Amino acid sequence: MSHKLGRNSFGDPANAGNLMSIEEAHALLNEWVPNERLRLHMKQVAAVMKAWAIEKENADEKTALKWELAGLLHDADWEKYPDDHCRIIIEELEQRNIDPEVIHCIASHGPNYFGIEPNNTMDKMIYAFDELSGFVHAAALIRPTQYEGLEVKSVLKRLRSPAFAAQVSREDINDAISRTNYSLEEMIQFIVDHQKDVS
Ligand SMILES: [Fe+2]
Repeated sequence: MSHKLGRNSFGDPANAGNLMSIEEAHALLNEWVPNERLRLHMKQVAAVMKAWAIEKENADEKTALKWELAGLLHDADWEKYPDDHCRIIIEELEQRNIDPEVIHCIASHGPNYFGIEPNNTMDKMIYAFDELSGFVHAAALIRPTQYEGLEVKSVLKRLRSPAFAAQVSREDINDAISRTNYSLEEMIQFIVDHQKDVS
């Protein structure tokens, strides 16, 4: 099954700046994603994306909302349409006349699956955060104190152990990190700090 999207243009440039409220995005998520675990994953990626936009990119409120929306909706179609993952949410956002940058960001969150290269910083960061956020969460869940006292070095150790969360592609993580100006250690710390309280 190929998930390649087979096109390079997403959304209408005339819709630049057109976003939805975070409440609207949560409503879509609640309707499309019954699986609580998957919803939590998207909320975590959203929290990390928003925090990164504000803290590292000096984003204004609207730009931070863009980052947050991309994070919150990037896997919205995964549970109901696994064979058409990414295509369905992209089409939904196009129908809702959402800013093309948000749609492109979602389209490029897995370049090796969807065939869309991350262009701007927002694209690169969602690619870097997606798998790594899930991995950090898995590493936290197996500890009695979960996120409390979770150190970067223990996440790194898990990454080097192929049997742990074996479905998470280390190759994708390394590829994604190499496209950012940050180290794996910095990214892990940022994720731990910003997703630990998301529920
Ligand atoms: Fe994801």
